[in-house]
Amino acid sequence: MDLLVCRPGFEDALRDEIAQRLGGKAVCLCPVPGMVEVRASVPLPPEFIFERRRMPDAGFIPDQLLKPVTAEQVRQMLGPALQGNLPWSICSFPAGSGTVGNLGPRVKGIEKAVLRVAREHFPETGRQMTDTQAGLLLQLCLTPRGLYHSCAAPCLQAGSPLRMHQDSRAPSRSYLKLEEAFQLMNRQPRKNETAVDLGAAPGGWTYALIRRGCHVTAVDHGPMKLPPHEPGWGRVRHIRANGITFEPPRDLCPVDWLVSDMLVAPGVVLGLLRRWIGARRMRFFVCNIKIPQQNPCAAVKPLEDFLSAQRKVEFRLKQLYHDRREITIMGQLK
Ligand SMILES: C[S@@+](CC[C@H](N)C(=O)[O-])C[C@H]1O[C@@H](n2cnc3c(N)ncnc32)[C@H](O)[C@@H]1O
Repeated sequence: MDLLVCRPGFEDALRDEIAQRLGGKAVCLCPVPGMVEVRASVPLPPEFIFERRRMPDAGFIPDQLLKPVTAEQVRQMLGPALQGNLPWSICSFPAGSGTVGNLGPRVKGIEKAVLRVAREHFPETGRQMTDTQAGLLLQLCLTPRGLYHSCAAPCLQAGSPLRMHQDSRAPSRSYLKLEEAFQLMNRQPRKNETAVDLGAAPGGWTYALIRRGCHVTAVDHGPMKLPPHEPGWGRVRHIRANGITFEPPRDLCPVDWLVSDMLVAPGVVLGLLRRWIGARRMRFFVCNIKIPQQNPCAAVKPLEDFLSAQRKVEFRLKQLYHDRREITIMGQLK
């Protein structure tokens, strides 16, 4: 069984997505809000849009059996690390928001107990424990019913979701979404690169770009509220226009970055990307998409199909940690 963690409230979206991708080859259960257990007869794809975290080949220990944590339980948890005597690291977290039933402090207590028992009963494997992400990752997730555990090679979705820190100078909290997207893309904007920011006001995304030295064309009818300019920052040109139909000046194309945060539906983003990608107007892109309450996967599918059909486009669709009823599409033209 694999355990997938999602934003609480998006379990059905994740289940629909799994059904869409794997058809009848997977059975899903939702044991607690924010979690989906998947039993599949085929390997899972490397990631799902609505998945925040993955615990491959997970086991479960009911709450009443955890007091105290026993050597046999730790043997089960460490399975592959014990067999291969491989280096391993540990991370533990509470289910959902962690505010229910004191789960946060309790899971930290369980982590400590697991480490103590590992050192006492499996000293060789205990010594292989490391703080780096080398080798295997033991994940522990505490729910009100008990503890899920998984020890496996870190996959794309292993470890904590990316929780970014707000910069007090940023004019909005939207800033966090773009910062998270840059981390996931593994490519930061560089000094003197150019960007078009659609739906830019009050300026959180523009701020993330100019503080890296980019020159930004910010498109929005609303006012920008950027902090005072500092040495080393890029320039901003604010254009009051409709971002959906905005045509960048020819001499600016291709821009290095197209970023868009207009809170618009998947179909609108599809139209926008069709035009921008068709004319190769940008190199990298990050677009936020507002998703409908009903059937978000079905609503996003045409956009996904369009991008998958483009030979020269690499992309990733994710519900970011900082996304709410939104998802983000990140990509690059090769
Ligand atoms: C969520 S806010 C953007 C926040 C911004 N990214 C930031 O970090 O501060 C959405 C913005 O999109 C703008 N917007 C919505 N539709 C637009 C359109 N068709 N053209 C231009 N701006 C649009 C709104 O005026 C609003 O300022």
